[in-house]
Amino acid sequence: TIEAVGAREILDSRGNPTVEVEVLLDDGTHARAAVPSGASTGAFEASERRDGDAGRYLGKGVEDAVEAVIEEIGPALAGFDAHEQRLVDAALIDLDATPNKSRLGANAILGASLAVAKAAASAADLPLFRYLGGPNAHVLPVPMMNIVNGGAHADTGVAIQEFMIAPIGAPSFREALRWGAETYHALKSVLKSRGLATGLGDEGGFAPDLPSNKDALDLIAAAVDKAGFSLGSDIALALDVAATEFHTEGGYDFEGEKRTAEWMTTYYEGLVAEYPLVSIEDPLSEDDWEGWAHITSTLGARVQLVGDDLFVTNPERLQRGIDAGAGNALLVKVNQIGTLTETLDAVDLAHRNGFRTMMSHRSGETEDTTIADLAVAVGSGQIKTGAPARSERVAKYNQLLRIEEELDDAGRYAGPSAFPRAAR
Ligand code: PGA
Ligand code: ZN
Repeated sequence: TIEAVGAREILDSRGNPTVEVEVLLDDGTHARAAVPSGASTGAFEASERRDGDAGRYLGKGVEDAVEAVIEEIGPALAGFDAHEQRLVDAALIDLDATPNKSRLGANAILGASLAVAKAAASAADLPLFRYLGGPNAHVLPVPMMNIVNGGAHADTGVAIQEFMIAPIGAPSFREALRWGAETYHALKSVLKSRGLATGLGDEGGFAPDLPSNKDALDLIAAAVDKAGFSLGSDIALALDVAATEFHTEGGYDFEGEKRTAEWMTTYYEGLVAEYPLVSIEDPLSEDDWEGWAHITSTLGARVQLVGDDLFVTNPERLQRGIDAGAGNALLVKVNQIGTLTETLDAVDLAHRNGFRTMMSHRSGETEDTTIADLAVAVGSGQIKTGAPARSERVAKYNQLLRIEEELDDAGRYAGPSAFPRAAR
């Protein structure tokens, strides 16, 4: 039984405030959860509550959200059985009573929702992945490591936001992580040898200024080779274009030109023909349902097309995508929707309709590792949580190492089967 819920303002990986929630059960069990925050946020995400007081943290303080946890959420949840996650989350949604969780704040609500789940797992003496996923949870996800950062995560002219490596050929998660880290280090020396900057972006990837987006893929291909791996069969590539960020009235502002959705689609077809890409996220903008349906019918059999800003982990928007044939995979970000229950509902809806799922961090992160457990719990087979560097990113990868160890012989690394056959 939930006895008390507390909260505090802490810092995220960008030095911005975020909410941390603590839940205490009557048996003495205690758990905490911290909430992440995006930079390239979708317009349809649940509403993150910020104080707007310019005198503190440039207006980004979360004291009001913290107070909402202490004053309203705590009293409302007291007495609930922590194992009744659906009832707890329904109570949070009712208490907020807005469609986008703007009254209490999605950051206040999510912190409470996740902390309750962690407390319940702990009270049941189960690891979180086992508590949430049941006895059959056993698939370790392919780590989609973002090693070149562009877009809103870097101060360069590179429009595509994320260039990821996916070590699909590794025999285990542990080896996949090693392959990724070795490629990351090889990339640093490739950049150095070409006189390019080795500073990092928000997700720990390098952020060199490059003449074209394809240059990033070529540099990564060189790094994979230098690290001794084979491009495609050992290590495949993936993108998060985050196209909403450079979509304006007249089209897509891409490499100095205004482009149509059709032009962008042809561009991606060219990339898929030239590079071993298994996944492209947000190739088009969050409003472009028609363009999404078209690219899915032309490219969807060859590559995974992931909706992030398009679906915002929202079952209603995902249903629209399923009906329209827009996209074939769901990016899963707990703070886009704001409760664990709704996140699990979105994943369920995706899987029941043949959509794949990729568990995801945000560009603003904390040391909280809930998404690592969640990826194994739902068997999504894919997780993206940044470069294999910087503690807020590797905290999740390190947690997956622990889960793999715990699963022992029962664990299975997702490998190439995480992606459409024709993409491998
Ligand atoms: P964000 O970026 O957390 O800044 O939204 C991650 C993504 O777009 O996938
Ligand atoms: Zn994205």
